[in-house]
Amino acid sequence: MLQTTQLNIPEGMIDFGVGQPSFSLLPLAALRQAADHRLSQSDPSLLQYGAEQGDGYFRATLAQFLTARYSLPVEPEHLLITSGASQALDLICTRFTQPGDTIFVEEPTYFLALLIFRDYRVNIVGIPMDENGLIIEALEEKLAQHHSVLLYTIPTFHNPSGATLSAERRERLLHLSREHDFLIVADEVYQMLDYTVTPPPPLAAHILTDRVISLGSFSKITAPGLRLGWAQAAPAQLDRLIHAGLLESGGGLNPFTSGVAQSLIELGLQDECLAHLKRVYRERSAALSAALRQHLPGSVSFAEPGGGFFIWLRLPAGYNAQELLAEARPRDVSFQPGPKFSSSGGLANYLRLSFAFYETEQLLEGVARLGQVMPNKNVI
Ligand SMILES: Cc1ncc(COP(=O)(O)O)c(C=O)c1O
Repeated sequence: MLQTTQLNIPEGMIDFGVGQPSFSLLPLAALRQAADHRLSQSDPSLLQYGAEQGDGYFRATLAQFLTARYSLPVEPEHLLITSGASQALDLICTRFTQPGDTIFVEEPTYFLALLIFRDYRVNIVGIPMDENGLIIEALEEKLAQHHSVLLYTIPTFHNPSGATLSAERRERLLHLSREHDFLIVADEVYQMLDYTVTPPPPLAAHILTDRVISLGSFSKITAPGLRLGWAQAAPAQLDRLIHAGLLESGGGLNPFTSGVAQSLIELGLQDECLAHLKRVYRERSAALSAALRQHLPGSVSFAEPGGGFFIWLRLPAGYNAQELLAEARPRDVSFQPGPKFSSSGGLANYLRLSFAFYETEQLLEGVARLGQVMPNKNVI
């Protein structure tokens, strides 16, 4: 069969490594309705080269949606429409880094962002985090050793750790970014996916300091195949992004999809999609957490996530998630081992599970399989 999606899961395998929505959660009917609504209007502009910053009407509609969701004023002129957070990160690297520059990331961090940064041949330095996010003292230490052009952070419902940066640490981070003149690239794609914990306001609240670019994506609140997202920043940072050759040549990144997404929001369908996703993920997250407590030995620890897609398991020191994976796969269960999320090959005794892709029943079956290969309770 010809491949259509990024997925490549062997038959029968329950792969907790997949951090994408289930097919059953992809809102085909809502998008059909939104596309029909937009394409029935006698306005062909969505088929033309689009404004570099993104369609003005769509930015106005998105700004309204975000104002309600973030509970803070979002202005259309502070938004740049992107093809998702990945593309925004790539554009930020193009416009804000030179090969050999140092950038800071969290340890652990979103593993595919590491691949984007490596494409730009920057020097990647990891800053450790704990259950309250990035450790500010560790950042201060690294700032004394390196000049970093930017810090990439996932402040809310982190991928992979699930942690949320505390309000107090957000303030200290902003202070340090001014003092040491680095840009904060806040990947806030999970901000709206809160289940049991209300996170602090997004770092987007601080764009007018000129030190923050905040990223969001329809991949997590609607569907990844839309390839639609946004960067939110002050005019100085946005101007730098907008004048990229890519946008000068091709125009706005996705006028057609933006037009459909505009109808999705206007018709109230986006709110419905998000409410549905939150209901389903909340239930799955609770079920997976309960099953892990039941089936895994007490020596394996994790924090129940308050939102997002992930649970980050810590094995006893000395255990190796890569070796565990080799034992798990023949039992038809898989996950992402910790070192993938490390900029320096560390985190050997961690692994990431996602509850986004499988229905609850399959999640429970997966945990039962995982329980068979987990380190024995008595061996620490
Ligand atoms: C933290 C983070 N950033 C970005 C992405 C990718 O987003 P997009 O589909 O908008 O490129 C993901 C997806 O897993 C993610 O977890």
